[in-house]
Amino acid sequence: MRVLVLTGAGVSAESGIPTFRGKDGYWRNLDPAKLATPEAFARDPQLVWDWYRERRQRIRNAQPNAAHEAIARLAQRTDDFLLVTQNVDDLHARAGVAQEKMVQIHGDIFVTRCSRCDFSNGDRGGSPEPPGTHVVEPTNGRLRSIAATSMQQKKIPRCPGCEAFLRPGVVWFGEQLPQSKLQRVEDFLDGGACDVVIVAGTTATFGYITDWALRGSRYGELIEVNPEETSLSRFATRLVREPAANALPRIVNELIACGGTKL
Ligand code: OAD
Repeated sequence: MRVLVLTGAGVSAESGIPTFRGKDGYWRNLDPAKLATPEAFARDPQLVWDWYRERRQRIRNAQPNAAHEAIARLAQRTDDFLLVTQNVDDLHARAGVAQEKMVQIHGDIFVTRCSRCDFSNGDRGGSPEPPGTHVVEPTNGRLRSIAATSMQQKKIPRCPGCEAFLRPGVVWFGEQLPQSKLQRVEDFLDGGACDVVIVAGTTATFGYITDWALRGSRYGELIEVNPEETSLSRFATRLVREPAANALPRIVNELIACGGTKL
């Protein structure tokens, strides 16, 4: 069985991560679609960092849900499998999807990279902490919890190499998708038609998501899992209007049971 899974923010909604375009998506009355831009960062890097720091913290505290776990099970049970997620959280990985079976096409929120040179740090320990969080540091062999000072909170991290502002390692609106990741998706699609494409929890706003879903499913099934209609709905061979954490465990069980032959 050859399977492509495309996911978006709705898959992490039941882990408590707000979607972008849902009613909980706004942060301090600000539209995420306007914060996730190079222009917003140039105008107010502190504000953009505050948003990402809060999101990092929320994601650290979240747990993968039944949808992430079902996708991980499918990945483990299928030789020819690729997950392309627009989510910058790490919940698919924490549920057990191996890096070689997954492409985070919009980047990784826990990576911090330079806004000018190619410095990049994927080490969570080195990433700037959210304002007001307590940093645990060792003192005399014991762990002590200290509050970040207001000075630390106000700092925008700078590149150790060139001193430019560091930024989150995510793709913002209007930026190019990373070539190496695009190539991995293209290689998978070129490798043969899929028996099943599952598109879950995304409005499929971006043309490349629709394009990959349609190309992948040209000879197979296109299953959409989303409580709402999207631009992809009319192409789906099966519409599942339910939350992903309800629907995906059932769909994955069916797929594993029938080997993708009779959906
Ligand atoms: P959106 O916030 O646009 O859409 C979330 C989708 O999930 C909607 O279609 C909801 O109906 C659906 N949804 C909500 N709860 C769900 C649930 N429990 N189960 C299944 N579906 C549910 O998020 P994305 O489509 O992921 O990009 O957004 C795509 C990209 O736009 C993001 O990666 C981000 C954003 O702006 C960048 O930042 C570049």
